[in-house]
Amino acid sequence: MPGKKVCIVGSGNWGSAIAKIVGHNAKGNNRFDPVVNMWVFEEMINGRKLTEIINTEHENVKYLPGHQLPKNVVAVPEIVEAMAGADIFIFVIPHQFIGKLCDQMKPHVKAGAIGISLIKGIDEGPEGLKLISDIIREKLEIEVCVLMGANIANEVADEKFCETTIGSKNMQNGHLFKELLQTPNFRITVVTESDTVELCGALKNIVAVGAGFCDGLGFGDNTKAAVIRLGLMEMVTFTRMFCKGEVSSATFLESCGVADLITTCYGGRNRRVAEAFAKTSKSIEELEAEMLNGQKLQGPQTSREVFKLLKKKDMISKFPLFVSVYQICFEGRAVGDFITCLQNHPEHM
Ligand SMILES: NC(=O)c1ccc[n+]([C@@H]2O[C@H](COP(=O)([O-])OP(=O)(O)OC[C@H]3O[C@@H](n4cnc5c(N)ncnc54)[C@H](O)[C@@H]3O)[C@@H](O)[C@H]2O)c1
Repeated sequence: MPGKKVCIVGSGNWGSAIAKIVGHNAKGNNRFDPVVNMWVFEEMINGRKLTEIINTEHENVKYLPGHQLPKNVVAVPEIVEAMAGADIFIFVIPHQFIGKLCDQMKPHVKAGAIGISLIKGIDEGPEGLKLISDIIREKLEIEVCVLMGANIANEVADEKFCETTIGSKNMQNGHLFKELLQTPNFRITVVTESDTVELCGALKNIVAVGAGFCDGLGFGDNTKAAVIRLGLMEMVTFTRMFCKGEVSSATFLESCGVADLITTCYGGRNRRVAEAFAKTSKSIEELEAEMLNGQKLQGPQTSREVFKLLKKKDMISKFPLFVSVYQICFEGRAVGDFITCLQNHPEHM
């Protein structure tokens, strides 16, 4: 039987780090076709196309400089060409672009194809919360699972040991993705509570913005720990409130839960930009453009989506951390108010 053809949809910092793993694993396992296409949002770098640079130098010089990608990973700028014949899709683009891209993909999806989303974010639909995997599922009519964990892309690319979580309602698919993605230094647990896993990945970015505010305001490790814990409690409450399926505490103890929350509150880009926000008078948009070299922030946007959902349900007072992050980022509330907002947290009442 021919190996399953894999297409990576996205090529940013995380997309490129995952391409390193997938290229290596696909080449060494006859369940997969050794040639892996990677869809690249084309851009010019010093007068050269990024796809051309990746295909000749095997390095994504903009989003993952200093790392060689396996030669069997082929950068393709046209989505229809990149996805031709694909049995397996790995979605790894900033969440604001997924809807439009799925519309382009829809007429060309092979029957029986499956997907995994590595995208951290949420959207809002007529019935309330819409997960990014829901958007992909509905638009492409394929089965979709998710992968989320304490996985800062550059560290994964450096092959530093870490764990991650696959959430898959279909265990067979979950284990196929584990075979494609696991390495000795990237250890995977598969769980069935896919929606909980996905919400952990999205919501922790809001908490990371709060952690960055604390750093920028000069608070210490005790405060950061309190923000992480209160953030976790809000993540659990929010997930229980908005998820249709089961939400068990055990899922929050997987890499996608507590571990990702910790790493993002110490290391990620959301924390870094929020720290700068607290120290300067610049807007989030200005700092994103100035500090991230084309990479995208997720925390502030996710706080906006969450705020809309909470307002509709009249639940704002139950989520002071999520709400204050939104108000500080978008409504001009003083960043110095962040801790005041936490002093009356429902957890302490
Ligand atoms: N970087 C990490 O450490 C990390 C880890 C885990 C999960 N994630 C998640 O993975 C997802 C992708 O993040 P990333 O770090 O790979 O990307 P990134 O933020 O590094 O890069 C932005 C990407 O968006 C692309 N882009 C720009 N404009 C576009 C458009 N109009 N349409 C489509 N694409 C466009 C760029 O070409 C680039 O590939 C996000 O949801 C993120 O939360 C990231």
